Amino acid sequence: METKFIKINTNSPLAPQLEDAAKIISRGGLVVFPTETVYGLGASALDADAAKKIYAAKGRPSDNPLIVHIHKPEDAEKYALVPPTYYALAEKFLPGPLTIIMPKRDIVPKNVTGGLDTVAIRCPKNEVARELIRLSRVPIAAPSANISGKPSPTSAQHVIHDLDGKVDMIIDGGECDIGLESTIVKLDVGGATLLRPGAVTPQMLSEILPDLKIDRGITEKNETDKAPLAPGMKYKHYAPRAEVTLLVGDNAECAEYINSHVKNGDKIGVLCFDEVADMINGGNVVRFGKRSDGKAHAKALFSALRNFDGTDVEKILATAVEPVGIDLATYNRMLKASGYTLVYLNK
Ligand code: TXA
Ligand code: MG
Repeated sequence: METKFIKINTNSPLAPQLEDAAKIISRGGLVVFPTETVYGLGASALDADAAKKIYAAKGRPSDNPLIVHIHKPEDAEKYALVPPTYYALAEKFLPGPLTIIMPKRDIVPKNVTGGLDTVAIRCPKNEVARELIRLSRVPIAAPSANISGKPSPTSAQHVIHDLDGKVDMIIDGGECDIGLESTIVKLDVGGATLLRPGAVTPQMLSEILPDLKIDRGITEKNETDKAPLAPGMKYKHYAPRAEVTLLVGDNAECAEYINSHVKNGDKIGVLCFDEVADMINGGNVVRFGKRSDGKAHAKALFSALRNFDGTDVEKILATAVEPVGIDLATYNRMLKASGYTLVYLNK
């Protein structure tokens, strides 16, 4: 299929620029669009055939449910059985990078939710995303716009690499602000559970959800055969071509370890804090931002992993972030990208 491209001009009104894209969605086609987290691969969430096309384009297993994107927080009522907690969360965090799982209504096809009785609802903040949903007149089902298993795309170039020729249109809206996927919280009678960390942190959520449970799969490997709460978590994820090793230690310890490996002449990619980068001589070094700059880490991670794919590095050494605040989200993605390969350098 031939993929159309459009580049958003932020200085002119969005509606005329998005008219064709909205038509494609309402007629059952596939459009990749920017959000504040990562790019999404969108199709009508009310059209079972359109959802099938998403799974095919991504190479995604069909038991892995899609997130349904809505224009206004109150639209959730049409697709989910909405508890009062949803509104408390919506008032504080929506539109924004928070996805909320609730019991689904029948109007949402079963294949959109991977056969589950629940639906994941997200009201994005990005204006291109919101305007596209409004003009399409349907909610938009959208997973991240990457080939299954690869890091999520944070720029249109990443999307083109993975999906050119497999979708009807790609909308280039520039780099995503946050760089990691939305926080996912599941609401049910037993209370609320954090299934995936993101820019809305557990600390922020705890004001409204004081008893928020944190799914253990966020920081621990699922060693049992127990099904994970978010089906997507069981698949290999965010993996670049080269093997990733996470280094846990202070700046000097990380630099010493990296320098000793770079000396061996291996083809090493390094993703490290600025403070560590300043102490390294050699290797293919990508800066992660200052150790204390969680927002920079979130924004840098997926792009850095993808950039290494375009080089000849055979091994990637990455300084691990602390699992707190927004860094909990980065830590969670780093664990998965590395297949839980950590080296503890602390003396
Ligand atoms: O930031 C984001 O959330 C991006 C942008 C495009 O909005 N989307 C995204 O979608 O990350 P995806 O499909 O890559 O990740 C959605 C995750 C998967 O792990 C999936 O299993 C889980 O959400 N999920 C979706 N619906 C669910 C449900 N009803 N119950 C449990 N987990 C669900
Ligand atoms: Mg994804």
